Amino acid sequence: MDYETPQFFRVMQYAARADRDVVDMVSGNPDWDPPDGLRDGLRDYAEADADEYQYAPSRGLKSLREEIAARRDVTVDRVVVTNGTGEANHLAMTGGLDHFSGDEIVLTDPVYPYYAGRANFLDAETTFVAAGDDGRLDPETVRAAASDETSVIVVNSPNNPTGAIYDADAMAEFVAIAEDHDALLVSDEVYDHFDYAGRFASALEHDSPNVVATNAFSKSMAITGLRVGYAVFPSPDGPSGDLVDRAATRHMLTNVSGSRPAQYAVERALQTTSPEYYAECRRRLERRIDTFCAALDAAGAEYNRPEGGFYVMARFPDFAGSFENVYELVDEAGVAGMPGEAFGESRSDWIRFALVTPRVEEAAERLGNFFE
Ligand SMILES: Cc1ncc(COP(=O)(O)O)c(C=O)c1O
Repeated sequence: MDYETPQFFRVMQYAARADRDVVDMVSGNPDWDPPDGLRDGLRDYAEADADEYQYAPSRGLKSLREEIAARRDVTVDRVVVTNGTGEANHLAMTGGLDHFSGDEIVLTDPVYPYYAGRANFLDAETTFVAAGDDGRLDPETVRAAASDETSVIVVNSPNNPTGAIYDADAMAEFVAIAEDHDALLVSDEVYDHFDYAGRFASALEHDSPNVVATNAFSKSMAITGLRVGYAVFPSPDGPSGDLVDRAATRHMLTNVSGSRPAQYAVERALQTTSPEYYAECRRRLERRIDTFCAALDAAGAEYNRPEGGFYVMARFPDFAGSFENVYELVDEAGVAGMPGEAFGESRSDWIRFALVTPRVEEAAERLGNFFE
């Protein structure tokens, strides 16, 4: 699989050119509103003084970093605010390759394709560990794959694309494996608010020099366009203390700083948003999952009901998860998903659907009719 060129746009462009109405279930852009506090923050910022239109501190607004540190129960010197989880993952993976010996990155199959693309352009060796049929990742398979060559292990829970959540025991094992192999566990937790099973465990529960957690407000506040994320690095006073400083330097050399208004608005939203906002987002998605899974049952498809996140992978009888078949679904059914083959070999028979559209019911009916 060529991970160098992101494939999402291929399908999105194909769907946009179709001469029929298409329900877009390709990308992970939430379709609901951000919290009110976010909009209030942006509105207020318009009237800010001239100096607040200048560079933010490179590691992020101090008050936002403090807010994040308090929520993640870490010291503020471990937090770097980034342009989304994407940059946080980049800083963590490059930092891990620099700091730990070996040039291998362990990824999962299926994989979020940007990890694999990044590993390729960093010239790292990649080893893929197969997730189980239910999408869960057996720590023993990760242990068997890790070696002295391993410098980075990337896990993502709740998982894109499988919807699996790795529980506290699994997470403890992933941390132990990274420690045993003198490697860095990069734990991408961007879907942490979308846990329907109550199983989510953060890697930050382990105070380890071998762990970086990455995250953002992109999904939890429905603001993928604002680009505010963060990474929590090991303590600067510990054996991997250089990771945070190097990441901050790399971040500065690349971006100078992140967007100041966006950080300000996120901070306001963090301070003012009640747990009910996140709970309502979960309820909305659970309703969609129910609707969509019922239609998949009716279509005779195989699928795993997601424990978290907002994607469903499905396998339809005699209909592989290829680009060709996905294009046929666009043209004939009016539903656009992502071919499973874009996520690795193990799911090449599957198609991933993002439930971030109010038209899930319609899409489910269309799929039902097509596979009838
Ligand atoms: C697993 C995973 N990590 C990272 C990202 C990118 O997140 P951000 O928009 O915060 O950079 C996504 C986006 O879909 C994702 O699914």
